[in-house]
Amino acid sequence: MNNLSLDLNFAIDQHLKSAGLSKADYERISLQLQQAHELVVSKRKAGKMAFMDLPKQQTILQETIVVAQKLSAAFENLVVLGIGGSSLGPKALFTALCHPYHNFLPLSRRKGMRLFFPDNADSSTFAGLMSTLELERTAFAAITKSGGTAETWAQLLWVVDRLGKEAARRQLVALTDPEKGSLRATARAEGWQALEIPPAVGGRFSVFSPVGLLPAAAAGIDIVELLRGAQNMVERCEKGNVFENPAYMLATTLYLFDLQKKRSTHVLMPYADALRETGDWFVQLWAESLGKKKGDGFVGPTPLRAVGATDQHSLLQLLMEGPEDKLTLFVAVDEPRENLKIPEKVFDLSDLNYLGGHEFHTLLSAERQATAIALAAHGRPSLSIRMPNLRPFAMGELLMLWQIATAFAGFLYEINPFDQPGVEAGKRYTCCLLGRPGYESDVQSYKASNKAWIF
Ligand code: PA5
Repeated sequence: MNNLSLDLNFAIDQHLKSAGLSKADYERISLQLQQAHELVVSKRKAGKMAFMDLPKQQTILQETIVVAQKLSAAFENLVVLGIGGSSLGPKALFTALCHPYHNFLPLSRRKGMRLFFPDNADSSTFAGLMSTLELERTAFAAITKSGGTAETWAQLLWVVDRLGKEAARRQLVALTDPEKGSLRATARAEGWQALEIPPAVGGRFSVFSPVGLLPAAAAGIDIVELLRGAQNMVERCEKGNVFENPAYMLATTLYLFDLQKKRSTHVLMPYADALRETGDWFVQLWAESLGKKKGDGFVGPTPLRAVGATDQHSLLQLLMEGPEDKLTLFVAVDEPRENLKIPEKVFDLSDLNYLGGHEFHTLLSAERQATAIALAAHGRPSLSIRMPNLRPFAMGELLMLWQIATAFAGFLYEINPFDQPGVEAGKRYTCCLLGRPGYESDVQSYKASNKAWIF
């Protein structure tokens, strides 16, 4: 079986001259790389990199499959109530591995439940969804690691109020910390079904916990294969030598481009619509893990998500001729799930006849290669992640690759990639604005608005 691979040819000095990286650039920071590897090893031993152990957690897998089967047998729809890491991972799996119009397919053509991710506390979306679904045919997965996220609770309270407490016991499953937080306490008190998110696994690193696995299994995705792919990547990323470890190589390359070449905007550009939401998942992982205060300064590359070839007609002009602060990260899929042929001889159009007879995938691949070449010709580096296909094993590899790379990058930047103190400040002001006792602050002074500055 072909594995996922990382192609750095358009990132190195051979093609890019001084805009690219040389072997010496990596060797110059060899001590730092060694120290980062030692941190990975020691943190793994101390149980602080628990996301890397998830692919082997058989109990979690079996419990998740049981709940997924129970829900699938009784309901047609599963609504995921969660936000951030409690929504982006399962959404990435769903869109990458299910039929693009899965929710529209009749039951006979669907492998599992229909999935919905209202995500935001925007009542247009939420009310719109709730008015569309038949409540008695709908189950809900309330997912919050902390157990207390306002957006998730707003939706959950609405659902329980609408279902009634007795139906909630049948139609609701809670995914949260085994001990801490209001969701765990409520699940216990109300007798809700529940699955555990391991305590040492944070939101954006939780895709291989029940957070990602339950919705995926309910939708009919082969989660055993998904975890096999993730485990394969863990094993490929155990060596300390950066030249033998794809996650370390990915992290180090992006780190070097950020700090040495001042290319601090990292644009993930898969040439597959199915990976659009994986791009959103990457943005959260890279931004929330690496955007940190460090001493008196700040660090953190800026992640962006694009989709090829769509964004060749949008963002690409900026990548090609805008400020030289960006690095493009292509994702290529070798074997597409569908591959239509462009018909020949429908019309005789001299400027378009060249298209006839090619497959759609050949066109998309040519556009990706051409974009990489054109960027290189403009002195703009890129790298490519190649996936053999869009099946669970390859997705397991891809998502694990990025998680290990993120942790390793965090150690290179010398920050903690697993916390998110910057997110807390906004949460505290929200509580204050909503009148939560104990959260009083000076927020009123910020509310005074000066009419002279309103146009
Ligand atoms: O990565 C993280 O920790 C965050 O993005 C969380 O996933 C997000 O804030 C939601 O938190 P919770 O799962 O506690 O509801």
